[in-house]
Amino acid sequence: MTEKKADQRQLNYLDINPEIQRLIQEIQHHDDLYYKKAAPEISDREYDRLKKKLEQLESVISQSDSPTQRVGDDRDEAFTSYPHRLPMLSLDNTYSQEELKAFHNRLAKHFESEKLEFIIEPKIDGAAVSLTYEHGKLTRALTRGNGEEGDDITENIQTIQELPRTFQGSNIPKLIEVRGEVYLTHKDFERINAEQERHGLPLYANPRNLAAGTLKRLDPQEVQERKLSIVLYGLGFCEPKNAFSSQATFHEAARAWGLPTLEHFALAHGFQEVWQAIEAMDARRHQFSYETDGAVIKLNQITQQKDLGSTAKAPRWAIAFKFETEKAETRIHAITLQVGRTGVITPVAELDPVQLSGTTVSRATLHNEDQIKLKDIRIGDTVIIEKAGEIIPAVLEVVLQKRPKGTSPYEFPKTCPSCHGPIERIEGEAAFRCSNANCPPQMRRRILHFASRQAMDIENLGVAVVDQLSERAIIHNIADLYSLTVEDLLPLEKFAQKSAENLIAAIEKSKSQALWRLIHGLGIPNVGAQTAKDLARHLHSLQALIDANKEALNAIDGIGPTIIQSISSFFANHENQKIIERLLKAGLKTEENPQPGNTQQVLQGKTFVITGTLPNLSREEAKEKIEAAGGKISSSISKKTDYLLCGASPGSKYTKAETLGTPILDETAFIKLLKEPEPAYMP
Ligand code: IVH
Repeated sequence: MTEKKADQRQLNYLDINPEIQRLIQEIQHHDDLYYKKAAPEISDREYDRLKKKLEQLESVISQSDSPTQRVGDDRDEAFTSYPHRLPMLSLDNTYSQEELKAFHNRLAKHFESEKLEFIIEPKIDGAAVSLTYEHGKLTRALTRGNGEEGDDITENIQTIQELPRTFQGSNIPKLIEVRGEVYLTHKDFERINAEQERHGLPLYANPRNLAAGTLKRLDPQEVQERKLSIVLYGLGFCEPKNAFSSQATFHEAARAWGLPTLEHFALAHGFQEVWQAIEAMDARRHQFSYETDGAVIKLNQITQQKDLGSTAKAPRWAIAFKFETEKAETRIHAITLQVGRTGVITPVAELDPVQLSGTTVSRATLHNEDQIKLKDIRIGDTVIIEKAGEIIPAVLEVVLQKRPKGTSPYEFPKTCPSCHGPIERIEGEAAFRCSNANCPPQMRRRILHFASRQAMDIENLGVAVVDQLSERAIIHNIADLYSLTVEDLLPLEKFAQKSAENLIAAIEKSKSQALWRLIHGLGIPNVGAQTAKDLARHLHSLQALIDANKEALNAIDGIGPTIIQSISSFFANHENQKIIERLLKAGLKTEENPQPGNTQQVLQGKTFVITGTLPNLSREEAKEKIEAAGGKISSSISKKTDYLLCGASPGSKYTKAETLGTPILDETAFIKLLKEPEPAYMP
């Protein structure tokens, strides 16, 4: 190599490498949001663009640990992982007809045929799962996980009505892994969001994330209420081998066994027919009950698939052609700011109304200050907005040629748009937060959060009531709830004597809620339900939490510096102190005695799995008892499980517990264990 060339390579490396590192970090951040938290900040299209850019740069310098070289990871500690018998691969994808043609030509050349048989299927935008049926019986359901092993979500999958536990018909294989997607129908998604809205809780962004999040709920009862759906389209491991000659015959067999399969697929020979089938699919896809974001083009014959094989990440015999997301051009006439419950300020673009995917859009999220700066979005700009499955569209880019003269970069305000109090940027986060505890929209959301099912569970205290009460200046904070009277409620819309009395009674009843619900209800930033439970379990009173120093909090499993910082600034705030004082005066229960005579919690460190219907306790009650006694809940049985709490009509967990020799308790034995734990040490 000449010296000049070597220099050139060095220069490229220095230029490109920091950009590669930056992209890798950015993609990892978005992977985490998508796979682990089911709450992405950017559209799939934007994500694909980042990945494409990274791939292009990596064609110059390759990085073995890059996200372009592996599939995402959804595994979660609360679940037990099991290996897939055949890895669950990803798919190469493209948005370009040219690249699709190149894929076709590669295969045509390999098999020396211009008329290869392809199957064109919809690409379903759900959460990938793999179901194992042994002798026609459903024995396990796993998420994709890291592709090699996935989380056991069998019990949650069994809440899906249309999924048969047992195959019908004949030709049933000894063992088969069937792959598919779990999704929520548009109707169920809207129903769930309407419910969220009624309770003043944040809306879910799109059906995919809600379906993925639901699969990872620990309580199958909650999963049942969400009403998941499933569609199965793929073949994993199968014994006997070579049971199917083609992908199409696999679909037929799956349908005959009674599995919910694709509503539509097409066979095509050669590129032209493939392209026609993709266009036909694009035209029809809005009628399907699931979201689709593309078409998957697969070689139909299994022998040909085997001949080509796979890379570590994706099969060589298939490709996804992703449909362009729908876009529209419009103008931003203002940028407004929304204040959330914890004071987080979200900028929103107010748009000249425009038609997009069948609805009129007049607002788009701008996420945070960094996103505005990155895209240099200004008031008066013409922008391209995009709706990629999300209910609130996002601003994709600015049309710079149309920027009017005299605009200036958007200045994020220094004070809260609602109460004009100070705002501060939270360390390590992109968001700004208003630090005034009395800020009105925050106040309203805090009250709604306090009353929500996951906190004090005050029935019928929803958005409509809280809005009216705060507009009339009857309530300003959560403590005011406890001085409400029937007379305060009667003048409100839709209130009569009986409904007013019921609400007051519900508020009264909440005074004796469990301590963790109160702690969660206070709305301390970063303290969710699980953290509140951990705190209540270790500290036993609100006062102990207020008094706890850093060391004491740090000693609690799962509590780290961010939470400690949040807790200490919350209780140091004078307004919060006044509210807590009033809650105490109102007679709320703020203490929970540990089991009498037991300083050590009786189920400390024990892991429970619950299955079946218990005679007296609801699952939620059983869970609360276990957690209050220091135990933990897991959703599936493993060697680490200490007890299976088992009611009537248990699921597959019962057999699994028997196989592993896990102690099985009925409700009576469980209650007994709570009172008289097994001695830890026998003299
Ligand atoms: S085939 C080895 N077919 O999209 C074959 N996947 O982005 C890989 N997906 O991992 C899967 N619809 O979770 C296939 N008709 C379809 C699909 C489909 C949705 C998902 C699947 C896959 C991901 C790739």
